[in-house]
Amino acid sequence: MKNVEILGTGRAIPSKVVTNDDLAKIVDTSDEWISTRTGIRQRYFCDENETADSLAIEAAKKAIEASGLSKDDIGVCICATLSGDYATPSMACMVQSTLQLREDIATFDVNAACSGFLYGIEIARGMLCCSGEKYALVIGCEQLSKLLDMNDRSTCVLFGDGAGAAVIGVTDDATYASTLGARGGQEILANGPGPDPSNIQMDGKAVFKFATSIIPKCIDELQKKSGFAVSDVSKVVCHQANERIIDFVIRRMKADPEKFYKNMDRYGNTSAASVPIALDELVRNGSIKDGDLLMMVGFGGGLTWAGALIRYAGKK
Ligand code: ACO
Repeated sequence: MKNVEILGTGRAIPSKVVTNDDLAKIVDTSDEWISTRTGIRQRYFCDENETADSLAIEAAKKAIEASGLSKDDIGVCICATLSGDYATPSMACMVQSTLQLREDIATFDVNAACSGFLYGIEIARGMLCCSGEKYALVIGCEQLSKLLDMNDRSTCVLFGDGAGAAVIGVTDDATYASTLGARGGQEILANGPGPDPSNIQMDGKAVFKFATSIIPKCIDELQKKSGFAVSDVSKVVCHQANERIIDFVIRRMKADPEKFYKNMDRYGNTSAASVPIALDELVRNGSIKDGDLLMMVGFGGGLTWAGALIRYAGKK
């Protein structure tokens, strides 16, 4: 059975910085409330010239460049998103046409909320391993600012826009494992298209409980399947919903805090984009080097969850 490894990554961040103090001018909140409860200090929102598609295209272009491959090598194109510009064409189709990827490749979006990028990796792996194709482009991209109710202080302070992408390639390396899951329901986390499509419904405490139980479960699964523990990988990249969730997991697992990357202070929660943005930061700042193993864990609306233990192989 073939597996996949990461060859190149990219990200695209919108130009408009929105600080906690900026939000305090719109809703009854404060930098102190937001930062102590979530770790978030700022996020980025698209300006009038930026869209979800434009972010996805930029991140994808950078990932292909970083992989050392040509656009014609890409054999599958998957976008994970819940906030694409159109119901159709899909975001993946917009990336394909703009970057002039081949026409004879599967090109589609996946909605698994904040777990979407890792769902995309596993779907791409399945498709690559059952075809003659060698490389896939997987993107996580969101423009959540257009779904936010800016009068609702309990949700509008949490989210941001952005995109991250990775090119993955097939390998005979046995060091790969994944886990996917879902517990469908609307009670804990839901959004549109009800009476007010912009209103995210969330039971914050229930999300906290879900997240802090599912991250260790995913990590345990990855360890059982691969034989590699947190201590064996360079970094653990969790979905960046909330600093307190990650800190709780570190304490509960008695894990080394240095292994768990956090960047929600700068980006907020970018749903499907959060894991690949963090991944690209780690690659580009030299924290992940060619050949390193990493764990990635996503969790979110659906409810869904996903984990991957994967090697960063670097440029082809
Ligand atoms: N500023 C100031 N006060 C606020 C704000 C705000 N932005 N938001 C809510 N409050 C107030 C509430 O109105 C409430 O006031 P009251 O006691 O007078 O009624 C008080 O703060 C407490 O409200 P809670 O909703 O109980 O706030 P909580 O302490 O649970 O914190 C939070 C909310 C940060 C979302 C928390 O539940 C949490 O950490 N949840 C984890 C999940 C998460 O991060 N979800 C977001 C993403 S979902 C995902 O990606 C999977």
